[in-house]
Amino acid sequence: MSEPRRLWDKGEALDARIHRFTVGDDPALDRELLHWDCLGSAAHVRTLQRAGLLTADETASLLGELAAIDARARAGRFDISPEQEDCHTAIENHLAQRCGPAGQKVHTGRSRNDQVAAAMRLFMRHHALRFAAGLEALIAELLGRLAQDGGVRMPGYTHMQPAMPSSVGQWLHAHAEAALEQLRAVEDLLTRLDSCPLGTGAGFGVGLPLDREYTARLLGFARAQRSPIDVQNSRGRLETYFARVAADVAAIIEKLACDLLIYTGPPYGFFELPAALTTGSSIMPQKRNPDVLELMRGWAGRLRARVVELEWVRGKLPSSYHRDLQLTKAPTLQAAAGAQDLLEVGAAVMRELAVRKERLAAAMSDELYATDAAYALVRRGVPFREAYARIGEQVRAGVFRADAGARAGAAGLVDERVLSELRADVAEAAGQIARIRERVDAAEGALLNCG
Ligand code: ARG
Repeated sequence: MSEPRRLWDKGEALDARIHRFTVGDDPALDRELLHWDCLGSAAHVRTLQRAGLLTADETASLLGELAAIDARARAGRFDISPEQEDCHTAIENHLAQRCGPAGQKVHTGRSRNDQVAAAMRLFMRHHALRFAAGLEALIAELLGRLAQDGGVRMPGYTHMQPAMPSSVGQWLHAHAEAALEQLRAVEDLLTRLDSCPLGTGAGFGVGLPLDREYTARLLGFARAQRSPIDVQNSRGRLETYFARVAADVAAIIEKLACDLLIYTGPPYGFFELPAALTTGSSIMPQKRNPDVLELMRGWAGRLRARVVELEWVRGKLPSSYHRDLQLTKAPTLQAAAGAQDLLEVGAAVMRELAVRKERLAAAMSDELYATDAAYALVRRGVPFREAYARIGEQVRAGVFRADAGARAGAAGLVDERVLSELRADVAEAAGQIARIRERVDAAEGALLNCG
């Protein structure tokens, strides 16, 4: 085996410290991109063949080797050495060793600039689809819970003070609506990600007859990204939007966690985490801690910080490629993994949570119904301001009791019509995303299967 070579090696000595600095974390981070670069490379190879720049044999040999690299990468057995810098170099070196002259041709009509943009776009598309699946699963948990316990009364709080009668259903419904909003944001994200960077080279187009729409179709994109300069300008811009959606997904989980930290602890105790979801203390034998909820909250903060990081790295740049863009990879990868984790853990918590009905019932004080008692008077013709004053006096005198009329009239439950509207909206968004998923799965599934 020959020495791994940098793609741009001119035979000149390189300062080792500077090389380490410019390579940075790429050899580790790019492991995540190997699969996506193999897919992008396979589409590029087929496009070169279509342009008459590779023979059928060369194409078959390159595709076979790309499939082999991909299989090794999936098994964690394809290394990227620091000398190789990144996944693009590691793959091209491997192809050069295994495919002879064809390996020398694979970089025809491309640059690492459009190559890495394509790999990141495929990575983000994959994770956006996973976010969608995670959100759908979370919504299913919330609505399943709601079907079971939705009618259980629960105090509604404002300023963290008991305010009005609400219900477990109303609480669950709120989080399901927020998850639906994010599902739609993911759909929008997928639309933004739906164009193919390949065939734009270093950022100004390629002087070879490459059929870019063909490349785009092979990779399951709706279209080729038209402006070569915008391909580079959108690197970082799309990553920031991706991380923004990830952070907003995390923020839903965060609010659930914040609620549960209050409602599972004393003096509320409305819900209980099963022992399997809690952790203990090394010193206090009696403790059972909701670390999981606190880390959900902590991670949401971390993902918000990734958006800020991306804004700073990609901001202030003039048009076209700059090496700064390499630093957009780490926060994007963390946003993807973090949001996915939070969705899975959040759904598990919602599935396992126990509802303590007796605690909830005990918390439904008469005073929560004070506004409803005023409304009962309003129904009998008393002007609201007068009813408000009368009930207020009773409360202050300590004699207020919520009678059956006030209790029966109270709002705070979720009705079936609202829920069926929500279910229809979720199905609609999920259906749009499923169409994209089908197109992507079909394209990606076919690409590395030679033929
Ligand atoms: N690791 C680099 C990045 O993420 C790959 C592209 C290198 N391109 C270049 N012109 N130096 O941006």
